Amino acid sequence: MLNKMPNELKNNNSESAQETSSNLKKIMDLSSTNADADQKETIIKVRNLNKSYQLYKQEIPALVDINLDILKGEFVAIIGHSGSGKTTLLNLLGLIDNPTSGEIWINNQNTQNLSENEKVFFRLNFTGFIFQFFNLLENFSAIENIAFQLRLQGYNNHVSRERALEILKFLGLEEKANRYPRELSGGEQQRIAVGRALAKDSILILADEPTANLDSSNGQNLISILKKINTQFKKTIILVTHEFDYASQATRIITIKDGRITA
Ligand SMILES: Nc1ncnc2c1ncn2[C@@H]1O[C@H](COP(=O)(O)OP(=O)(O)OP(=O)(O)O)[C@@H](O)[C@H]1O
Ligand SMILES: [Mg+2]
Repeated sequence: MLNKMPNELKNNNSESAQETSSNLKKIMDLSSTNADADQKETIIKVRNLNKSYQLYKQEIPALVDINLDILKGEFVAIIGHSGSGKTTLLNLLGLIDNPTSGEIWINNQNTQNLSENEKVFFRLNFTGFIFQFFNLLENFSAIENIAFQLRLQGYNNHVSRERALEILKFLGLEEKANRYPRELSGGEQQRIAVGRALAKDSILILADEPTANLDSSNGQNLISILKKINTQFKKTIILVTHEFDYASQATRIITIKDGRITA
């Protein structure tokens, strides 16, 4: 099955596998293999979260006292005006950046207790990122872009390509497996980026305005794929978008204004 990959298929000498600490093991227990478990479990708990940026000795508050619970299997949309703090929040939840104060708990683990190496491991294995700009590797074909993600996680070349092909089939892009990003449309490139996120064993996908560079038909297609990934593979999805039409297709909408959650 697409969302299951037996660990024994991974290379035994995978560095990343060796680095798994007890902190991370707890988090990794949330892998897709047990995603069918109780959907009411809290996957992310945010408490009194603040983030300020320092710019020329000036402090810019980007997030103010955020409190938030996200349940396993939710499809949450975050909406808000430009500059309201959406990307900042997503980056903190994905452990790309550190908060100024406050706590982010993932699977009952305080992420403050993770070392930098553990955070790298978390980002690699636990979270799938989809960005506004597709961020594909230009010299890698469609299948290689997805397979590369699996190689990073320790799967051997054969398994990585096989699984990447399965993912391409799911995305309806099997025929384009050997095309390079420049030979694909924007919609197709973004679907490859989704495939890369889907390749991970994680159950969390963070998408920051993934439809911003797509026309409305490709945009809706992408949202439909995210919905399918949410229902079929039980991945928890957090989608940042400006478009209310897209946000309304999520299971919950969170509104941010001037760095605060208002609804
Ligand atoms: N690296 C940075 N240094 C200084 N200020 C920053 C930095 N990154 C973001 N900001 C500021 O923090 C606030 C929130 O920015 P953020 O990127 O989270 O907004 P956003 O809601 O994602 O906006 P958009 O919809 O335009 O992407 C803004 O006022 C922004 O100018
Ligand atoms: Mg943003």
